[in-house]
Parts: sequence; structure tokens; C-alpha cells
Amino acid sequence: MIKKIITFGTFDLLHVGHLNILERAKSLGDYLIVGVSTDELNYSKKAKFPIYSQEERKTLINALKIVDEVFFEESLELKRSYILKHKADTLVMGDDWAGKFDEFNDICEVVYFPRTPSISSTEIIEIVKKIK
Ligand code: CTP
Repeated sequence: MIKKIITFGTFDLLHVGHLNILERAKSLGDYLIVGVSTDELNYSKKAKFPIYSQEERKTLINALKIVDEVFFEESLELKRSYILKHKADTLVMGDDWAGKFDEFNDICEVVYFPRTPSISSTEIIEIVKKIK
């Protein structure tokens, strides 16, 4: 039987930390599904839009050979229905979310991977801002 893995994120300014978690996620199974958060969802969470549009972020994630399917995550409240709809066996998240998704243990395995140190979309934006 094919083992399906699902993960979620903004994936703005695609960087090696994103690639690492997607590779680790894929290594747990056969089929990797990624929910890319919409611009609106980001705005509602962080009161700012990502640098890359949702279409650009989805296109970049979709181009990775380890990724099998990409969809837009439109609401944080829909995680359970996304997991069920995609028949995911395992939910993978970075450990910045450790414990936060344990409620889904009743429908899938929940795995948290350590974040790659010293890189994030926010940090890249801060570094670029400082360049004169
Ligand atoms: N991630 C990771 N290591 C990093 C950065 C992100 O493992 N250094 C993981 C997150 O834990 C998450 C996924 O990549 O599971 C998508 O994270 P996202 O929030 O889009 O990336 P960040 O770089 O953390 O973005 P931001 O700075 O806007 O929070």
C-alpha cells in the first residue's frame, strides 16, 4: 500500500530549510502532499503578505521532484478535513509546531522534525533589507 505524507507551510522565498523538511517528510513514505498557505491565510495570521504570491509558491513547490501533489491551504481550521480528503497516513510539521497538532493522532501519525538552524523566510527578508 502507498504511504501518503502531508505537510503544510507558507514556503515563501524557498530555502534549504524548506527543502530539508520536505525531503525528510518524503523519506517517511511514497507520496508527498503539500498544503501551501494562501496569501489571505498569511495575511490573517501575520498581518502581512508573503513576498512571493501563492501561485508562485505553489509552482515552486510543485517543481520539486520529491513533491507529488500541491494544494492551497485556505484555513487553519480545515487541517483535519485536508488530512482526511487526501487520505494522508502521516502529518509532518517542523518542531516550531511541536505538540500543536497532536489532536490529529486519531486520524493519522503526527511527526515533528527539527527545524534547520539559522534560516527562515523572515530572516532572509531582514538580511536583504539591511543591504544598502
Ligand atoms: N522549516 C524548517 N526549518 C527552517 C524553516 C522552516 O524545518 N529553518 C519548516 C517549518 O517548520 C515548516 C515548513 O518548513 O514545517 C514551512 O515553514 P514556513 O513557515 O513556510 O518557513 P519559515 O522559513 O519558518 O517562514 P517564516 O520565517 O515566515 O516563519
